[in-house]
Amino acid sequence: MPAWKDGKLGLPAKEAVKLFPELNNYLDGRGRLDFSNRKARILYNRAIAKAIFGLEIEYHPHGLVTTPVSRYLFLKTFLRGGEKVLEIGTGHTAMMALMAAKLFKCDVTATELDEEFFDYAMKNIERNGGRVRLIKSDGGIIRGIIPEGELFDVIFSAPPYYERPTKGVLTEREGVGGGEHGEAFSVRLIEEALEYLKPRGKVALFLPDKKPLIEAITEKGEELGYSVRDVRFKAGTRWRHSLILGV
Ligand SMILES: C[S@@+](CC[C@H](N)C(=O)[O-])C[C@H]1O[C@@H](n2cnc3c(N)ncnc32)[C@H](O)[C@@H]1O
Repeated sequence: MPAWKDGKLGLPAKEAVKLFPELNNYLDGRGRLDFSNRKARILYNRAIAKAIFGLEIEYHPHGLVTTPVSRYLFLKTFLRGGEKVLEIGTGHTAMMALMAAKLFKCDVTATELDEEFFDYAMKNIERNGGRVRLIKSDGGIIRGIIPEGELFDVIFSAPPYYERPTKGVLTEREGVGGGEHGEAFSVRLIEEALEYLKPRGKVALFLPDKKPLIEAITEKGEELGYSVRDVRFKAGTRWRHSLILGV
């Protein structure tokens, strides 16, 4: 189970180097890692996934460098354990789906659209015991991808949330949610989710600290009859939101 250090989830650089000696190349004279370097970020996050969460994760060289602690803190805001869950968009790491299966003992179904990310996700799932049903999306979100009549306790996602392509950090599929504030993907997801949730089921969205985006999704959620709760949490130096919509 996750280890806590000084009240926080984390891993000192020297512990990470023991797991991945290659990280030595990115240490400065004072033992600090160069996080501006993508390779160093990937290796450090792989070390955290392994040391704290017991997960062996391979990252796609050009995909989002998913941080394990932020994903774990997000899942903790709405999972109690043992739920039947659906994740939309695992990304290449499949980290949240794997954490839900392994740490929260959930029955997990997950989807991914991107061909290469899907292959990476599948390999990460196999590498970690394979208790996730991974489905390839063809561009749909839930409808047409998940069999009609199948119901979940929770549907969650770290959705694409930019209004237009961004330079550098994310691929277009990872990043672009569409709409005025990047809310369009999430809005479609919460609309479709209504047909796939059990009574008292919920949707949970991992979102950045971006007020207009959160307001747009909240407004649409309330219009659809959800009760909406915004749980703000800090991951490293960044504030994140878990937007929880209950039916
Ligand atoms: C912001 S990334 C999040 C990835 C990962 N879940 C995480 O926590 O880092 C969004 C992911 O959704 C995928 N995606 C985009 N549209 C999708 C769709 N219609 N169905 C399934 N996945 C989709 C993208 O390829 C990308 O991997």
